[in-house]
Amino acid sequence: MTPTDSHLFYQSRTPRPFLDRGEGIYLYDTSGKRYIDGTSGAMVSNIGHSNPRVLAKMKAQMDKATFGYRLHFRTEPSEALAAKTASMMPEGLDRVFFVSGGSEAVESAIKLARQYAIVQGQESRWKVISRFPSYHGCTLGALDLTGYDPLARPFDPMMRGMPKVPAPVTYLDRDNLSEHERGLKYAEMLRDEIIAQGPETVLAFLMEPVGGASTGALVAPDSYYGRIREICDEFGILLIYDEVMTGAGRTGKFIAAEHWGITPDIVALSKGFGAGYAPLGATVAGARIVEPILDAGGFLHGFTYAGNPLACSAGLAVLEELEEHNLVANAADMGEVLLARLHGLMDRYPFIGHVRGKGLLTAFEFVADRDTMEPLPTALNAHSRLVEIAYERGLITYSRRTRGGTSGDHFLVAPPLIVTEAQIDDIMAILTDSLDAFAHEAGLDVESAA
Ligand SMILES: Cc1ncc(COP(=O)(O)O)c(C=O)c1O
Repeated sequence: MTPTDSHLFYQSRTPRPFLDRGEGIYLYDTSGKRYIDGTSGAMVSNIGHSNPRVLAKMKAQMDKATFGYRLHFRTEPSEALAAKTASMMPEGLDRVFFVSGGSEAVESAIKLARQYAIVQGQESRWKVISRFPSYHGCTLGALDLTGYDPLARPFDPMMRGMPKVPAPVTYLDRDNLSEHERGLKYAEMLRDEIIAQGPETVLAFLMEPVGGASTGALVAPDSYYGRIREICDEFGILLIYDEVMTGAGRTGKFIAAEHWGITPDIVALSKGFGAGYAPLGATVAGARIVEPILDAGGFLHGFTYAGNPLACSAGLAVLEELEEHNLVANAADMGEVLLARLHGLMDRYPFIGHVRGKGLLTAFEFVADRDTMEPLPTALNAHSRLVEIAYERGLITYSRRTRGGTSGDHFLVAPPLIVTEAQIDDIMAILTDSLDAFAHEAGLDVESAA
């Protein structure tokens, strides 16, 4: 099929085959070719494809009702999913507002924060500080918080221009500090920015606890997380964790905040929360934030499709699968295996400059020089070439330009949480073959001894 045969328009004109079916970590096109879903789509299909329990629950719900507007009816699936979500979140995060995707979850989080400030009598607080690079969504509110130039720049005149602080890209730093000190250094940048903006104007700080597409699974030093919480508390600023990609078990905890014992004030969830079975997301906060807003007349916000019983029945079944099959623990265990294998690639490919991640959210980054971490020439288009080469060989990966979207190339490897060690071997075999082919095509050296 040529691109012009389709009435659809998305980001790219690259023609893709028709999807036929999915099963576990595999997808099949209509010619019968099998693909390993090495990134769970866009880090979505956490429990794999065509899970029988989820499909059965959805079918049962379909036979009853697929939609009941949330202002007209309570529904059992939405109540049950809210209760289940609250039970899996850190203590105190027990009020749930359903949405249909990640951008909506982030928009809802910042509007909830703003309404909280108003009911607290703090009208002057409206600025949300976020990080650069980062990705928080494509609606104008979420995009204003996104630090990714190619996606944001054309729309700059339509946005307020929310303040940004550097993401903690310590692997690029060439100073004499320890990792602990670097973590604190990046956290202090937030404090400096709050003071520069005027603390009484700052509403919230928004961050991805483990980076997603824009930074390629960036993990900050441990010291960063606690210090950020302290700084937010010092100035009465709400800490919002964007766990759209990291939530629902992907990093080896239900939400990534648990790795550092942090309780954010508001959390955005989506992707793995609906796991590809239904468009679903949630904004989760504590009663401390939600109750005063309800007392003052309610949250002035909502999406028509949100909380519909079909999507919620899927979400509930997804969380039950996670629990019953210990998939969050599997993400932690298999994540260690995967990360070790990716580190192993550095022996063979001198152009892999860094490997990082947590649980089954992992990435590797290309460089021209490991000492300086200078990126490969942009003209090589490595980020798209390797993805295409792997795709031809039946492995789906996900890449972005790394340094704010303008240069550098990183690749995410994030299979469904059901992945086995043998399947990780299969992923690595295709990846190695693809890296060899890319190196050959780009004229890059490969260490044959490894
Ligand atoms: C961290 C993060 N936040 C928000 C979003 C936006 O989610 P959606 O594309 O579902 O609107 C994404 C999507 O990639 C994401 O990774």
